[in-house]
Amino acid sequence: MYETLLTEVRDRILVITINRPDKLNALNRKVMSELEKALAGLIGDENLFGAVITGAGPKAFVAGADIGEFVGLTREEGKALAKRGQDIFFSIERSPKPIIAAVNGFALGGGCELAMACHFRIASENARFGQPEVNLGLIPGYGGTQRLTRLIGKGRAIELLITGNNIEAAKALQFGLINDIVPPESLVDRAVTILQFIGTKAPVAVAQCIAAANAEGSAGGYHQELEGFGICFGTEDVKEGTAAFLEKRKAAFKGR
Ligand code: COA
Repeated sequence: MYETLLTEVRDRILVITINRPDKLNALNRKVMSELEKALAGLIGDENLFGAVITGAGPKAFVAGADIGEFVGLTREEGKALAKRGQDIFFSIERSPKPIIAAVNGFALGGGCELAMACHFRIASENARFGQPEVNLGLIPGYGGTQRLTRLIGKGRAIELLITGNNIEAAKALQFGLINDIVPPESLVDRAVTILQFIGTKAPVAVAQCIAAANAEGSAGGYHQELEGFGICFGTEDVKEGTAAFLEKRKAAFKGR
């Protein structure tokens, strides 16, 4: 179905594996357009509840945008490449269905940006994070300057951005860039298990939590929370959830 991705559905969860291990899963145009297609498939398929994004092979999640595709770009072409990357990563961040990055090795440049666009990240012990673009005479262009700053704070982010240094999983955990460190062999299973747990919650409420958290820092953040709160009160699931609590039983959510 895809040239550069492997996809598998596990218990209503789409596992997307970026599959260019000989190039450390670098994001070329083909990977980006196939990711875009896979995301549209996730959103459009009512049988799918959420997704895991990971990389093929033991070494890398994604070692960056494909540097080979940078050669000879003009200023305008560079900007257009970044715009496309930003747009695709926005569609991950804005997905109403939860998406977890399972980071299994190098997450550098566009790889770190991809992981940060996901709703949260778990990583294997051998994961390494960094934005080494400065070594290429560049800056991150797929949202990295913004999301890194938001996730780990301005001082830490600027240090990583302007030194180009990588950090290990333990430091990424300490910085709040990742939520957990997992043995490599159980990484994807753990992400699936977390999603299965989220799958027991009311889907409209899950989607509204994501939308409200995404609006944090913007002028409309609290407004988004109000809207989301109201939207949830318009669902059958809020009646079911509150009734189940009061009747001391488990809620059976329908997603509406
Ligand atoms: N774009 C294109 N190709 C890449 C790549 C990238 N971002 N990252 C790795 N590759 C390719 C290498 O060119 C090499 O291909 P080859 O075997 O055809 O020569 C292959 O993946 C393996 O990488 P290699 O560099 O040999 O592995 P390593 O273990 O020596 O080093 C890294 C691993 C991650 C430290 C190193 O590959 C690297 O620095 N990659 C670029 C990271 C980067 O700058 N990312 C930001 C891009 S904006």
